[in-house]
Amino acid sequence: MTQDIWTSVDDYITSSLVGHDEVLEGALERSAAHGLPPISVSPPQGQLLVLLARAMRARRILELGTLGGYSTIWLARALPRGGRVVTLELEPTHADVARQNLRRANLARRVDVRVGPALDTLDQLIAEHVTPFDLVFIDADKPRIPDYYARALALTRPGSAIIVDNVVRDGKVADPSSDDPNVQGVRALHDVLAHEDRVSATTIQTVGSKGYDGFTLALVNRP
Ligand code: SAH
Ligand code: DHB
Ligand code: MG
Repeated sequence: MTQDIWTSVDDYITSSLVGHDEVLEGALERSAAHGLPPISVSPPQGQLLVLLARAMRARRILELGTLGGYSTIWLARALPRGGRVVTLELEPTHADVARQNLRRANLARRVDVRVGPALDTLDQLIAEHVTPFDLVFIDADKPRIPDYYARALALTRPGSAIIVDNVVRDGKVADPSSDDPNVQGVRALHDVLAHEDRVSATTIQTVGSKGYDGFTLALVNRP
């Protein structure tokens, strides 16, 4: 069982359950045309983000790692009227492509794209005492995941959800001797979560068009 069948099944799920969507497919095409890497969430993963956001009636969503705004479009579509996505991106060129894609999706008014190192922007948001976010999607640089998780906790409330992408990494998350900083980042997240009573969390392994990986879901507990 390998990549070909995982990709066929993702194509099948996309055709049968998720549906094809010109705006989303156009966003991927524009991102590729500008040389952005093809690492956006898959359509079934985008739909999972939507379902989780809707299940918790998220009105304020924070995303770390915008790229071309593909996952941002999914998240923004899950918002009720008056809801908002704040998405953080290091690379100005990525942010520009994302803004174009969001305009094309008619979602630019609901989304705030903030350019700069996510750590700095997160500290600004904390200093501004912004209204807590209901859902945080962490999908930027992996070595800083533990720092992002700590800031996400400061920017949420009991009942909020924190989702972290790419935490299984072909199974390398289980290798304590890995010297890959990405693996060390996701292992450090698990170390923190193991000693954390402020959230309840699990990690789910996934296969699909993006290979073998997984995500962590953490819910902020009532004190
Ligand atoms: N969420 C996107 C994919 C994000 S890829 C989607 O699914 O469609 C990761 C993104 O994080 C890249 O665009 C990269 O430029 C950005 N990134 C990397 N380091 C960052 C940092 N320190 N701060 C903010 N964004 C960063
Ligand atoms: C990479 C980043 C991602 O967020 C992802 O989902 C897949 C790959 C990467 O940096 O290679
Ligand atoms: Mg990712």
